[in-house]
Parts: sequence; C-alpha cells; structure tokens
Amino acid sequence: MSPGESAAQRDVVDDELHAAALTVARNAYRPYSGLGVGAAATASDPGGGGSRIVTGCNVENASYGLTLCAECSLVSDLHRTGGGRLLELVVVTDTGDPLAPCGRCRQLLHEHGGPGLVVHTARGVVRLDELLPDAFGPGDLG
Ligand code: THU
Repeated sequence: MSPGESAAQRDVVDDELHAAALTVARNAYRPYSGLGVGAAATASDPGGGGSRIVTGCNVENASYGLTLCAECSLVSDLHRTGGGRLLELVVVTDTGDPLAPCGRCRQLLHEHGGPGLVVHTARGVVRLDELLPDAFGPGDLG
C-alpha cells in the first residue's frame, strides 16, 4: 500500500494476499496444535522490477519448540525466489481470520521488511513499528 494508491487498488492487493494466505494455510503441517496459518506478502524485486507475492505456512515439529511459523516459511520463500524486501503482509488462520504475528516473527519481519512494512491485522492496517516499537535491528550492529 502506498500513499498515492486508491482504495480500489488497495482492495485488489488485500484480496489477492488474503486469498494466497488462505490457500497456503490449508497446506500447513499442524498435527499438534491443529491451527493452520498462512502468510502472504508482496515483495519488491531486488533488481528494481515489479513486486511479486511470497507465501508460507506453519510447519510443526514433534519437539514443539522447533515449529516453523508461517512467517518464517514466508521469509524462506522470499529468499528462495530471489530476495528483495517485504512490502505488505497478510497472516490468516485456515478459517481466513487474521492472526497477529508472534513476537519472534515480528523480529523476523523487521529484518526483511523494516519498520514500514504494512501489516493487515484484526484492528486494521498498521505499520510493523506499531507492532514492534523501538525494535532492535541491523542498524544496531557495528
Ligand atoms: N503460528 C504461526 O504460524 N505464526 C504466528 O505468528 C503465531 C503462531 C503457528 C505456530 C504453531 O504451528 C501454531 O501457530 C500454534 O502456535
């Protein structure tokens, strides 16, 4: 979502991201919690071209703590498909309801989308820095 974009253009992006997130949520490997989660985001092309959609679903593990969240899989997809930066993100359960990214994933998203990443939440569209204020990030090193 950019400031000059119309509401109609924004809805098309929202709908597309929501549909992509819901599709992958249904592929989640979730034998332990039963909760399927899907994440979809627009990503910039590092070569300066257009944007594309990257996705991820949660992949659980018998050791519980090694579970990969949907956002973690999405970050893998970002780099698997050529890198770039995350621009706008939707995370939903397999019933299509919005899901708040967990704390660890907020840090992951900050690394790959920065504080201005647009996040669709149950209370509307927010910037990532509203979900993770005063974040530690790459700029704090060296
Ligand atoms: N989960 C995610 O995929 N993303 C989050 O941000 C929160 C939680 C998943 C992990 C686990 O498979 C299930 O939801 C229940 O915690």
